[in-house]
Amino acid sequence: MEWQALKAHQNSIANIRMQDWFKNDLHRFDTFSLSVGDLFLDYSKNRISTETLALLSKLAVARQLPEKIEQLFSGYPLNNTEGRPVLHTALRHPVDHSLLVDGHNIMTSIKDTLTKMRIFTDKIRDKTWRGCTGKPIKDIINIGIGGSHLGPLMTVHALSELAPKDLRCHFISNIDSTHLHAVLNQIDPETTLFIISSKSFTTLETATNATTLIHWFKNKLHTSDLSAHFVAVTAAPDLAIALGIKEENIFPLWDWVGGRFSIWSAVGLPLAIMIGMDHFMAFLEGAHEMDMHFRYSDLAKNMPVILGLLGIWYINFFNANHYAVVPYADSLNYLRMYLQQLDMESNGKNISEKGHAIDISTCPVMFGEQGCNGQHSFHQLLHQGPHFIPVDFILVCLTHNKLEHHQDVLIGSALSQSQALMCGKSYTEAYAELQKAGLSENECDLLARHKSTPGNRPSNTLILKNMTPKNLGALIALYEHKTFVQGVIWQVNSFDQWGVELGKKLLPNILHAFKSSERSQFYFNDSSTMGLIEYYKSLRGHS
Ligand code: F6P
Repeated sequence: MEWQALKAHQNSIANIRMQDWFKNDLHRFDTFSLSVGDLFLDYSKNRISTETLALLSKLAVARQLPEKIEQLFSGYPLNNTEGRPVLHTALRHPVDHSLLVDGHNIMTSIKDTLTKMRIFTDKIRDKTWRGCTGKPIKDIINIGIGGSHLGPLMTVHALSELAPKDLRCHFISNIDSTHLHAVLNQIDPETTLFIISSKSFTTLETATNATTLIHWFKNKLHTSDLSAHFVAVTAAPDLAIALGIKEENIFPLWDWVGGRFSIWSAVGLPLAIMIGMDHFMAFLEGAHEMDMHFRYSDLAKNMPVILGLLGIWYINFFNANHYAVVPYADSLNYLRMYLQQLDMESNGKNISEKGHAIDISTCPVMFGEQGCNGQHSFHQLLHQGPHFIPVDFILVCLTHNKLEHHQDVLIGSALSQSQALMCGKSYTEAYAELQKAGLSENECDLLARHKSTPGNRPSNTLILKNMTPKNLGALIALYEHKTFVQGVIWQVNSFDQWGVELGKKLLPNILHAFKSSERSQFYFNDSSTMGLIEYYKSLRGHS
């Protein structure tokens, strides 16, 4: 019923231009904007009226969003295919309360881990932690992939202004050894700390990279003692110990923390080292404030709910299969990669949590790039392409950047992009401009066709006052909850990722075929995989 009402409503507003809404309502910006802490969201440049939001809220209520939000925070096993609660929000909750999972107060383990992180990060930062030859740590290498990589990478870059000048952080995620060697060429094993970050400790890329680095380290320093240089973050401590990591050097993770939601745990260790534990706690605090806003605000004034429902509006009622995130801040350079995993690994599904086939669109393809760079690559498609692509512009207003003029141009560019997407340019307007410039009738006609831009393309503008640990924490939590809201509406389990498993299962057969002297037709029944294996083997001289 709610779905049908939204469809009918979409029909009735489909031809209204946003500009007309603005003309008829001078308070539209005030109506469709809100703040949470230092985050300000303007969502007035959307194809919505107050009725749209009321209908979307009704849909959310019908899909039991308020109940699901409560379940998220209280430890209900929302990840039903793995029988687990989803409690990344507990990681950023003040530790003085209790939350029971299987009869254990998980807040005690969280508190202990934060204490362990503080002791460790302080020692690295004040140089009391020494490498095996007595030198302090200068380089940190995070070895991990997916959620064990993107969170640390994104946040360390975002807050790099807070990092000490004598510490560098590197990231090895992929198995392509080109990158591994490039990093090793920059570091000295005597002054390097390796953080092996893997919830499962079975992820092939991370296990392979970790093993290679351990061999490299042992050979370089002629020692088998890893204790001053290798630590692990994992929910599988036995596997870390089996690899040679000392028990005291293992930071725990838990089943109830999904990989893509793990930056708030010890997976955030590289960030904690780079910005210091006080700043790390502020990062958690920012996320917690967004949690409280999400949990306790009305749906109509709830930032993650609004962002989530606007996405639903376009994906399911305007057939938008894509959306773009364009941060106008170098600090958020890796946000798009982070959000790709968050969004697409969570909601890229076509089976409902109850196991039924879903017959509506779910997760759109998310892409993005920093502004202004995006303006000079894919924004052409946003403005005149055949696809309807809503955009989130993210601005960081006050920066450490002393070049005020640069900052004005940066922020102004974002505003001009959202305005251009909304207003577009009609054929008549373009024609009149060309005529004024003295062009012939034919030239005016041809060029006006090329220059006219449809407009009426929606965007959100999200403004962070400045890039602080607290504001970054709030920003990430905002997008986490937005993803959750959409998962609830689509009725998917946003916390599993079974599709990823298939490729992992097929890999061992292929690796076996690479080593085998037999032709691969014995293992594979498609000529493409078979042909590619043989071609690769012939190039490598294994044929
Ligand atoms: O890609 C699948 C995945 O399981 C992600 O969800 C996860 O973030 C990543 O692999 C890494 O997993 P782990 O931390 O267990 O190595």
